[in-house]
Formats: sequence, structure tokens, C-alpha cells
Amino acid sequence: MSRQKRQMNLTAFCFPPGAWRLPQASADIDMSFTEYVHLAKTAERGKFDTLFFQDTAASYGSDAMSHGDRTGTYSRIVRLEPMSLLAGLATVTKNIGLIATGTTTYNDPYHLARRFLTIDHMSGGRAGWNLVTSQIEDEAANFGRDHHVDHAERYDRASEFYDVVADLWDSWEDGAILRDKASGLFFDAGKVHLLNHKGKHFSVRGPLNVARSPQGRPVVAQAGSSEPGRELAAKTADIVFTAQSTLSDAQDFYRDVKGRMGRYGRSPEHMRIMPGINIVVGRTESEARARREEMDALITDEVALRSIARLTGGLDLSKYPIDGPLPELLPSNAAKARQKILIDMARTENLSIRQLAHRFAQATGHHVLVGTPAYMADVMEHWFMEGGADGYTVLQPHYPQPLEDFVELVIPELQRRGIFRTEYSGTTLRENLGVPFPENRFTKSARA
Ligand SMILES: Cc1cc2nc3c(=O)[nH]c(=O)nc-3n(C[C@H](O)[C@H](O)[C@H](O)COP(=O)(O)O)c2cc1C
Repeated sequence: MSRQKRQMNLTAFCFPPGAWRLPQASADIDMSFTEYVHLAKTAERGKFDTLFFQDTAASYGSDAMSHGDRTGTYSRIVRLEPMSLLAGLATVTKNIGLIATGTTTYNDPYHLARRFLTIDHMSGGRAGWNLVTSQIEDEAANFGRDHHVDHAERYDRASEFYDVVADLWDSWEDGAILRDKASGLFFDAGKVHLLNHKGKHFSVRGPLNVARSPQGRPVVAQAGSSEPGRELAAKTADIVFTAQSTLSDAQDFYRDVKGRMGRYGRSPEHMRIMPGINIVVGRTESEARARREEMDALITDEVALRSIARLTGGLDLSKYPIDGPLPELLPSNAAKARQKILIDMARTENLSIRQLAHRFAQATGHHVLVGTPAYMADVMEHWFMEGGADGYTVLQPHYPQPLEDFVELVIPELQRRGIFRTEYSGTTLRENLGVPFPENRFTKSARA
């Protein structure tokens, strides 16, 4: 009997990207729905599993801006609100998943559960929630706080937040809504559940006023890599987004996170770990290198330094010689795992502050792949086969050319090797990812 070869999953990462100053880059994608439609259709043509909208509820570097800075932190200054974008994109796409970021630190579970489940219905079961605890300090001041909530406290809240959202999504069992015109019965009272949740952070009665969706409930993605971030991923995530720049780090992370899932009664097969790759593809290696250099030349030292300022724990790097080594940083309350990547990269590769800052400004600590389609497919296949990844989050240095090139040149190479689909296998995001339809929590406990 022939066994189907394991295939990788791909996410197209959507956020206002770094190399916006290139002549061929569409610099206005941050505010352009039309550009996002093009991006979504390009990724869908390439049979990507999903789009993924990164988000923060603040402009990056708001503080610097308020002191008169006008250049911005490599363009993440304005952006469209991702849930609204998903609603629009659901109507112009058919197969691709639609994932948006929602913070558990500056949100309420009922609002968030309702919005994501609505998108799941609108898209026929293609929605996903990237659960984050917020990685930049700037958000706090927009929600009545002087400082970002403490890291441990954020994860404590996130865990309860998730439980409430998952219960709300299941508050109507499958088949609970009858709409029976003959009898006048609208729903089956035995299949609707109040939560009456009273916890440390939330008090929520329920039920949600949206019924179960075609894929049961939205897919959950998690992107925190600190200790509590990994634990939360093991408990909640169907997809894990991460930044790993060597295969051995990726393997350690993969083993560690999947190894924690048993504690929550989950199988490691039911999670897709997808490290980021920042792609600069060329038809020849020299074309790819020239493209990379062209991008580098447009990032000033000042902008590069600002791209790592959020990871220094408040230490002002401009007071240190730019060609000298990275000094000891202060602990970060915002993004602990990303700070560790920064420090490790500086130490292992012996980089100066200038070199490190430019590296981060390009790819925010993600693995950078510069080369031909065959080279990219080689690296992607290697990590995939060696237990470092189930797939990849594809970060584009600008729009739209890198994604178009990836779809035209790299996807066929992956397909030729039999490690990526040539057609979508299902209609929902869960089916395409290969993660199971979740049994309703209340049905399950009644059965037990
Ligand atoms: C690919 C990727 C995408 C991310 N997207 C976001 C995002 O959109 N918003 C955000 O606040 N954090 C984002 N993060 C950061 C984490 O989700 C997390 O909130 C942050 O790193 C702090 O948690 P940690 O210390 O556990 O890593 C992302 C991380 C990765 C690897």
C-alpha cells in the first residue's frame, strides 16, 4: 500500500515590510486593500495554507515619533486593522486560510471570540487567531497604562483568556440551532451552554451569540517562544510561528514544544511548527545577492538601530560605539524570546552593533534565505526532513515581487520534490493543515 508522502505547510506573512524604499516595492500596501487582495490571490495561486496578519495596536516606535522622529521604524507606522481585512479577503478568496493576530493583553474574550467565529462562518471555515500577549511596549499607553503588563502576568491572563474563548466558541454544540419553522423551536436547549465563568481575570456568562462554524472553531496559532509561551502553545496551538536561525535551534524548539503536548492530552501530530524564512530569491545566485545588497543600502544606521531598540530592555544603544560589540542588555519585558535571538546572534557570529542592527532591520531575527529556487528548496526540505519544521512562515522583504517570484519559482520546485501540494485537499483551514476537527468541549464532557 502506498503511503502518501508527508507535505509541508506554508504561511504567507503579511505586515508592512522593511524594504519599502526600493523602486519596485509598493510602499502603500500598509493602507491599500487592493494590494492585499493581490497578495492573497498570489498566495492562493501558490496553494499556500494561509495568510497571516501580524498586528500591534500601536505604531512601532510611538515614543520616538512623539519626539519628532519622522523616518519610522522600517515602515510599521500605519497598518489596516487585520480582522476587518480578513472579512474583506474572505469574499475574494476560496481556499486560503485567513489568520489575524489578536492580543490577549488588550482585549476582552467575548469580543474576540465573536469576531473570529464570524470570520470563520464568512469564509466557510478558513479563519485563524494568532494569540499573542503583545510584543511592544507602545501598546500600553493606548489602553490606559503607563507600562506594558508584566510578562508573567500577561501569560497568566492569556491562558485564562484562551479557555474562555474556546468555551465560548463551543457554547453552542453542533446541531444546536434548529430554526424549525413547523414547531417554532429555534434551538435545542440541551445543546446550549452558559459558561458562568468567574476567574482571576474574567467574568463571562455566555453563551456566545455565534454558533459553531464549518471547521468547528477557528484555528489557533501561537507565536511566543519564551518558557510560558511554549507552554501556552502546547496547550492551545494548532500552528506555532517561531523565529529560528539554525537547524539545531529549530530542532530543539520543535522537540521541546511538541514534547509538552502530552500534558494536555494532545498528540504532537496535531500541531504545525512553522519557523519564519525571509526570502530573497533570484534566478541566479548573483541576482539574489544583488537584490539583497540593494535592500541593505536603503536602510540607514539610524533606522536599523531603531529596529532593535525595542529589544534592549530600555538600554540606549546610541551611547555605545556602533562598530563595537553589543553590551549586556537589560531584561526585556516585551519579547523575551526575540531578545535572546538578538543576543545569541551577536555573540555567536561576533557581530558589531551596526551589523546586528542591519540584520534585524531586514528580517527581525528570522532565518534569511538568499539564493536560487533550488537552494531555497534544499534548505526548506532539509529542515523539514530533519525535525526542524512542519512548514514555513514566508516573510517577504517587500511587496509584491518576492512573493510572486516565490510562487513562480520556488513552489514548483517544492512540488516537483513531492513535498508540497499541487491542489488544496480540503475546503477548511483545518483540513488543509491536516489538523483534526475539534470535538465540541461540552459534547465531549457529556459523553464522558
Ligand atoms: C512569526 C511571529 C509573528 C509574531 N507576530 C506578533 C504580532 O503580530 N504581534 C505581537 O504582539 N507579537 C507577535 N509575535 C511575538 C509573540 O507572539 C509574543 O507575543 C512575544 O514574542 C512575547 O512573547 P515571548 O516572550 O514568549 O516570545 C510574533 C512572533 C513570531 C515568531
